[in-house]
Amino acid sequence: MKKIVVLTGAGISAESGIQTFRDGDGLWNKFKFEEVATPEAWNRNPATVLEFYNWRRKKVWEAKPNTGHLALVKLEEKYEVKIITQNVDDLHERAGSKNILHLHGEIKKARSTIDSDLIYEHKHWKLNLGDTCEKGSQLRPHIVWFGEPVPLMEPAKKIASAADIFMIIGTSMVVYPAASLVVYVHPDKPKYYIDPKAFMVGGISNLNIIKKTAGKGVPELVEQLLKNWQ
Ligand code: APR
Repeated sequence: MKKIVVLTGAGISAESGIQTFRDGDGLWNKFKFEEVATPEAWNRNPATVLEFYNWRRKKVWEAKPNTGHLALVKLEEKYEVKIITQNVDDLHERAGSKNILHLHGEIKKARSTIDSDLIYEHKHWKLNLGDTCEKGSQLRPHIVWFGEPVPLMEPAKKIASAADIFMIIGTSMVVYPAASLVVYVHPDKPKYYIDPKAFMVGGISNLNIIKKTAGKGVPELVEQLLKNWQ
């Protein structure tokens, strides 16, 4: 089966009511990431960090997958599809996609602050000060914060380098190392970038720019790929 690898960002969840980060109404225009999404912020004021992620988690809890998420599931009828997402929401899972790697963590999980292998599923959207792991340490959001290592980058590179077709959906391609994944795709392989602000990424060959929203552009491309399937 031909392998399709998809790199998604906040833009694919925008039409599900989840704000992106750097658009006009983006989160980083409302919040200082230094105060809510860094290990330093956590050490300084964990209550503020917990409140920020509780607010975001509640929105994820209330959101639904959109036509962009659902179209990627349809692609699995004829292709082996692997999704590498920068998103911490679970909309790909709830749409029904099978192979998903979360590069930047998962907002519906919390983890121990003394043993990062201790990871727990959230039963409720709220995580409070005093909620502890089985070793008694405060639980923190299971998120990769700015300045923290991205533990799943090595498997993600391997997945990207095996792609027969590569799709980039709804990401500004400014955050590394995630944005570097396209470099690992074989230069001869077709690549598609779906985003209203999609641009020619420097040094990348066979890149097709589709300046559309995910909700519109992904179903159209999926239909084309299913029709042209060999
Ligand atoms: N459909 C497709 N793309 C969209 C849509 C839409 N409906 N709405 C907005 N976009 C695009 C924007 O044009 C922009 O290019 O989504 C992109 C969102 O970019 P960012 O806000 O920078 O989000 P992302 O690229 O996912 O951020 C990467 O940065 O803040 C950190 O860890 C966080 O994972 C995140 C990482």
